[in-house]
Amino acid sequence: MHVAVSPNLTGRRRVRATRCARTTSSTSCSYPWLIRNPSVVVLGVKTTTLSVDLHPACRKSLLPTKAGGLRMSQEYVHVPVMLDEVLTAIERTPPLSIFDLTLGGAGHASAILSANPERRLIGLDQDEVAVGVARERLAQFGDRAHIYHARFDQIHAIAEKEGVAEGGVAAALFDLGVSSYQLDTPHRGFSYHNDGPLDMRMNSATGVTAAQFIDAASEEELSQLFFVHGETRFARKIAKALVAQRPFQTTQQLADLVTQVIPIPARRRGHPARRVFQALRVQVNAELDILGPALDAAIRLLAPGGRIIVMSYHSGEDKITKDHLLYGSTGGCVCPPALPCVCGAIPTLRLLNRGARMATTQEISRNPRSESVRLRIAERLLPSEERVRE
Ligand SMILES: C[S@@+](CC[C@H](N)C(=O)[O-])C[C@H]1O[C@@H](n2cnc3c(N)ncnc32)[C@H](O)[C@@H]1O
Repeated sequence: MHVAVSPNLTGRRRVRATRCARTTSSTSCSYPWLIRNPSVVVLGVKTTTLSVDLHPACRKSLLPTKAGGLRMSQEYVHVPVMLDEVLTAIERTPPLSIFDLTLGGAGHASAILSANPERRLIGLDQDEVAVGVARERLAQFGDRAHIYHARFDQIHAIAEKEGVAEGGVAAALFDLGVSSYQLDTPHRGFSYHNDGPLDMRMNSATGVTAAQFIDAASEEELSQLFFVHGETRFARKIAKALVAQRPFQTTQQLADLVTQVIPIPARRRGHPARRVFQALRVQVNAELDILGPALDAAIRLLAPGGRIIVMSYHSGEDKITKDHLLYGSTGGCVCPPALPCVCGAIPTLRLLNRGARMATTQEISRNPRSESVRLRIAERLLPSEERVRE
């Protein structure tokens, strides 16, 4: 087992459980960091376990601040999902810039930069905390990492700023949804497990919070939203109860109300409020509205042989991804598959897998958040291949 030790931690200090995403011998180790000092409580358990085999990059980010506290990057916990698959997909792309459109804690980004020492990475995230952490963690790569606080539908403008033209990108990575840090930080308001303000904005500086959205929405709008996000039987009942009980201030109030509305025998796996929270999060962050245009813009930037890599965590985002990649692979051809194409459609992509790939059982046992991932990869065709189907 690869375990990391935090140097110089003394005294009785409670630290968040966190993980080492890399070790000197592996790119995918994700065991919790264990702390040397026996009086420090990790994962709620006192530990005296000693360390081995810490990746130099992780060791650097472990150094305590001058004030003796933990750096933000040490508090920000997120284990990158399907990291080996992502690195393999990028390995076989042209030697050009890579876009990470959902930087998060830069888990994928730092592994990509380590594995591709000749390339640069342009990364962005709409969460200012993630951007700060990514800056800290990617500082070791100097000018090879360019980081922006932006939403991924701004990819075209950022490419222009970076002097990257269409056809100038090796890979575009979308690791969609929220990070473990966002989910596990109560004051961000994403969690039905921990009480906090009912916020859910990934970019806390702008937009409407989940509480404000519930306050302003009609019963019909809420019901439709919950229905679309899988709360098929109780959408109407939950919407009615929300309208009757609003305003809501905290995640706990919302979670309790949804739990009361859904009868025990009808509850499915997981927390009864899971789908309602997901629906509100998707709405507050306009997640589905901007995904399609951002995927198309990323595909246009790819060089021949460049790859778009998308990891989705719920059916709404996976469906949009699947449809856009499929469209790219057929050019929107409407001719019967058995006959030559006469409609003039021009495919621009080749799908690299039949269907979506999922995390292995080993990865899921190490990192339960990888259970719902669906990975889709497509490659930009060479100009000679971008022709009408014969
Ligand atoms: C699953 S995490 C990514 C984790 C990252 N790959 C890593 O290894 O640390 C998703 C991140 O995408 C960001 N995000 C989600 N939607 C976004 C959007 N439309 N534009 C920019 N960032 C977005 C979230 O703020 C979050 O930090």
